[in-house]
Amino acid sequence: MARCGTDLQTAVDLLQAGHPVGLPTETVYGLAARADMPDAVADIYRLKGRPAHNPLILHFSSVTDMRGWVARMPEEAERLFARFSPGPLTLLLPKGPRVGDHISASLPRVGVRIPAHPLFRKAIQRTRCPFAAPSANRSGYVSPTQAEHVAGVYGGELAYVLDGGPCEVGVESTIVGLEPNGSWTLYRPGAIAATDIECALDAPLRLPSDHTQVVAPGMDAHHYSPHTPVFIGLEEIPVVHGKEGWITWRGLTYPIPPGVVHQPISNRSDLNDAARELYAAMIWLDGLGLDRIRIQPFPHRGIGIALNERIHRASLRTHIPEA
Ligand code: TXA
Ligand code: MG
Repeated sequence: MARCGTDLQTAVDLLQAGHPVGLPTETVYGLAARADMPDAVADIYRLKGRPAHNPLILHFSSVTDMRGWVARMPEEAERLFARFSPGPLTLLLPKGPRVGDHISASLPRVGVRIPAHPLFRKAIQRTRCPFAAPSANRSGYVSPTQAEHVAGVYGGELAYVLDGGPCEVGVESTIVGLEPNGSWTLYRPGAIAATDIECALDAPLRLPSDHTQVVAPGMDAHHYSPHTPVFIGLEEIPVVHGKEGWITWRGLTYPIPPGVVHQPISNRSDLNDAARELYAAMIWLDGLGLDRIRIQPFPHRGIGIALNERIHRASLRTHIPEA
């Protein structure tokens, strides 16, 4: 197990010395390194097993600190940050001269975000440098929402995980990108609803399919997947195959069959509870050696849109037929 603790200065000292550290954000835990240290950033890719063509998000403590890292800050971007940050919003903006190819995978834009977790913010302020930080899971796996998830994955390969408690939001930030023609595209749904962003922009968000350009790397194929096959749908009682784990966020219309490991993620049918608990439930069930995990789908509104997108991707690794 990687060392896990609550000592901010230990995390800061390691970051200053060029080591990646597990850090809490309000969305999910990140694997962070100083953005101006290419070797430390390379270590993130190595630890995660992340393909080099998949760029990283830069994390700042304020919009002012983005100077030099983004080529320009359009008025609309300022408006979005003023309205939703610190918080779970990432903007893809034209990259500035300080962004090395080790961060942006040579793409023309860079992802920038101002996270809300007080420990993450303090760590940035003490190092006086933005952090490059992807979610702290191994590439393709479910994102961690607790310090122990991170510590358990990397063992002694990772020097330290700063424990900031369970993540408050529980799913990754909403990503919107500025296009060359001035329109905005939703690249990843998240806790901030697309409709709220459209209100702030006073313009509709496009979807990546509206564009001829390549979709953001890492946003195609399966992702967020446990090793255990995942199936969506518990509206009607399914035929149980072997040992199953079920994740539900509201009551079922039938009794849970004996032998099923049941993991409720809200006791009051609340979507924010469900978001906070979903990944931990998936990771926990994945450790039980089950034959399959079934997840009750979410209503297609608010954060439910992000949750449905995540469980859909998680289920794509499941190639065996349902019957
Ligand atoms: O909530 C979050 O955003 C978390 C926390 C740790 O901040 N971070 C996170 O990072 O989810 P990551 O790397 O796991 O996911 C970022 C996604 C990836 O799919 C990546 O391909 C895409 O954003 N992305 C990042 N920079 C990009 C860029 N310049 N152009 C296109 N896509 C980009
Ligand atoms: Mg990720």
